[in-house]
Amino acid sequence: MIKLRLEGVSVRRAGGASALEGVDLEVHAGEVLVVVGPSGAGKTTLLRVMNELEPATAGRVLLDGVPTGALAPAELRRRVGLVPQVPRPLARDVAGELAFGPRLRGEAPGRADLARALEEVGLPAGFLDRPMGRLSIGEQQRVAFARAWLNRPEVLLLDEPTSALDPKSADALLALIGRLARTPPAPAVVLVTHTLAQARALGDRVALLEGGRLVEVAPAAAFFEAPREAATRRFLGGG
Ligand SMILES: Nc1ncnc2c1ncn2[C@@H]1O[C@H](COP(=O)(O)OP(=O)(O)O)[C@@H](O)[C@H]1O
Ligand SMILES: [Mg+2]
Repeated sequence: MIKLRLEGVSVRRAGGASALEGVDLEVHAGEVLVVVGPSGAGKTTLLRVMNELEPATAGRVLLDGVPTGALAPAELRRRVGLVPQVPRPLARDVAGELAFGPRLRGEAPGRADLARALEEVGLPAGFLDRPMGRLSIGEQQRVAFARAWLNRPEVLLLDEPTSALDPKSADALLALIGRLARTPPAPAVVLVTHTLAQARALGDRVALLEGGRLVEVAPAAAFFEAPREAATRRFLGGG
């Protein structure tokens, strides 16, 4: 089932070149689509345009066939969750951070719920009362992931989610992402990474973005073993 569809999406910024140019892309419920590409390729812009944090200057984004611009921002952000590469805490302490989304919807999650959400990302319940500003970036990243996942989004957008983590925490988070992506109701996951090993390990499909354009999208095995495009072979280092 197509969950999210981009049709001819471009993002052109004032005075600058295109960050995205004519991107056509579908993301299916229950799949992990990994996006790779060099720095500056437009990967972050692609995630931001998927939940309207940044408007498309041409083309459109559809969620279950409905243009995202037609959805209320609060509904869109709950259904399409984004974990940014650099965490930006919204609340003073971890409990407040985790409860942020539910409270916006008028819900009051109990401490047990919040503790469970923390536990899922490998942090102890004792973290609930910690000030966000006292956490390491890696811990903030895991809290940000737990916060997004608490909303049970239909689409989960992850921007280099392990970039600030030590190898052990990174492996744990990747394993969690792989598990969540396959547990009903499985979200559509779009994971940006610059680590090809992550793309191989987690991706059902892999997309290569370069200079704001989608070079190739293919099932992971085909992407790595039999890329169609010369640009993909170059990116993979195979000449
Ligand atoms: N807020 C911004 N304003 C203007 N240009 C930006 C902004 N953010 C990123 N860019 C530019 O848009 C292009 C794509 O950036 P980005 O999506 O962050 O790429 P990536 O995540 O692949 O490194 C780059 O040329 C970058 O310099
Ligand atoms: Mg980026």
